[in-house]
Amino acid sequence: FASGSLASRIEDAEPVAVVSADAGSRGGKVVPYKPLLDEAIALSAHKPAAVLMVNRGLAPMDWQAGRDHDWASLREQHLNASVPCEWVESTHPSYTLYTSGTTGKPKGVQRDTGGYTVALAASMKHIFDAQAGQTYFATSDIGWVVGHSYIIYGPLIAGMTTIMYEGLPTRPDAGVWWSIVEKYKVTHMFSAPTAVRVLKKQDPSWLKKYDVSSLKALWLAGEPLDEPTAQWISDALAVPIIDNYWQTETGWPILTLANGVEQQTTRFGSPGKAMYGYAVKIVDESTGEELTGPNQKGVVGIEGPLPPGCMQTVWRDDARFVNTYWKSIPGRLLYSTFDWGIRDADGYHFILGRTDDVINVAGHRLGTREIEESIASHPNIAEVAVVGVADQLKGQVAMAFAVAKDASGLDSDAARLKLEGEVMKQVDHQLGAVARPSRVYFVNVLPKTRSGKLLRRALQAVAERRDPGDLTTMDDPAALQQVKDLVG
Ligand code: PRX
Repeated sequence: FASGSLASRIEDAEPVAVVSADAGSRGGKVVPYKPLLDEAIALSAHKPAAVLMVNRGLAPMDWQAGRDHDWASLREQHLNASVPCEWVESTHPSYTLYTSGTTGKPKGVQRDTGGYTVALAASMKHIFDAQAGQTYFATSDIGWVVGHSYIIYGPLIAGMTTIMYEGLPTRPDAGVWWSIVEKYKVTHMFSAPTAVRVLKKQDPSWLKKYDVSSLKALWLAGEPLDEPTAQWISDALAVPIIDNYWQTETGWPILTLANGVEQQTTRFGSPGKAMYGYAVKIVDESTGEELTGPNQKGVVGIEGPLPPGCMQTVWRDDARFVNTYWKSIPGRLLYSTFDWGIRDADGYHFILGRTDDVINVAGHRLGTREIEESIASHPNIAEVAVVGVADQLKGQVAMAFAVAKDASGLDSDAARLKLEGEVMKQVDHQLGAVARPSRVYFVNVLPKTRSGKLLRRALQAVAERRDPGDLTTMDDPAALQQVKDLVG
């Protein structure tokens, strides 16, 4: 996270203490964390009393006396201390994880303790068919929900060894993951389609260099798994490839194949069937009516109560929890996933993208509103729209269309590129590089309806070189034409 994103989370969570490291390492590059954290705390109205730093020896750190503590020396000091177990109610919050939605302000997804443990234990048994003593390798990051559930808690609850790996799948070479599988005799592997697409572009012989015969299956989640990608990795590994669909909010799979209950056939392109505990409904967006026929497209909803493990509420904002998740479908109290979906005659589901302004970039969930707010805070930006555009490798990328306050200097390519660079840098600084738009195009006006509503779906269609559909409500047809000319 960049300092701006971190600051809004610190302000919302009001932590007593923050734990961090001097730096992380990505693609061989050191990313210093302490300066980001110091800036975030300076920006935040809430100031944590203590900051605990793990020094990995990667980057120098400035220390703030009284507030900052060194993990190694505290460890030395308390090495032989005996600390009793702290018993909590099963409903006691275990953690909050921030996730993006329709507004610019991320939501703190609050998880309980007992229900989450039950759900993860059940999933280890019935989705992952896992035994104590086996080895689990999830290639996610512990800062995301897959990392919480399936790097840390799930495997450890099941008595498995878990592998935490920091790095890219292609460094030092595209065999690194398979060398880990061979070395640690990994039995269960969990990753994201985007990583498989990256590996697919490399020399296929990397997969043959290592003995991966310990692997029982590969689970993939986080974004749609396209058939060619599924087929490629299935041929390469010769183990079942199991797609599973869920969200930060649910904490564990909603749709998958629970092969630990009953063996089922994989259907590429589908994350499978509703996991037990989830009453999954496909409903009409405007009437809330349930669509029971095969292949009818609607919003994927879940009837309450949600199973154990799912979010309890939005951290300190019960009203937001109810209004956002339970009241978006008219006429009934139904949890909305904000995804479009269909169910075929055999009960296999297909996920067809988000109903809201959330986009999915390389398996990372981002709110376009957050990116818009960041861009709009640039002094020369009057107005901006960010949409998700289909991308072969990353699934989607963010693309921005901005109106400059002072366009007089923007008549040359060099001037436009300069402003584009500034805007990108600002997003990097405030939200992090993952949110940086692939392009920032400057337009005279944004495509809007006569009542001033942004025609987001039409903008996205044109950016993807698709037919924008019905434009009778559009105010200024030249607006979309300019977008068309720009994206080519
Ligand atoms: O749009 C769906 C997509 O990712 C969203 C949830 O993202 P996040 O909160 O980061 O949680 C990821 C947990 C795996 C969903 O609303 N998504 C997730 N899995 C799939 C998916 N889309 C299609 N197929 C999937 N298997």
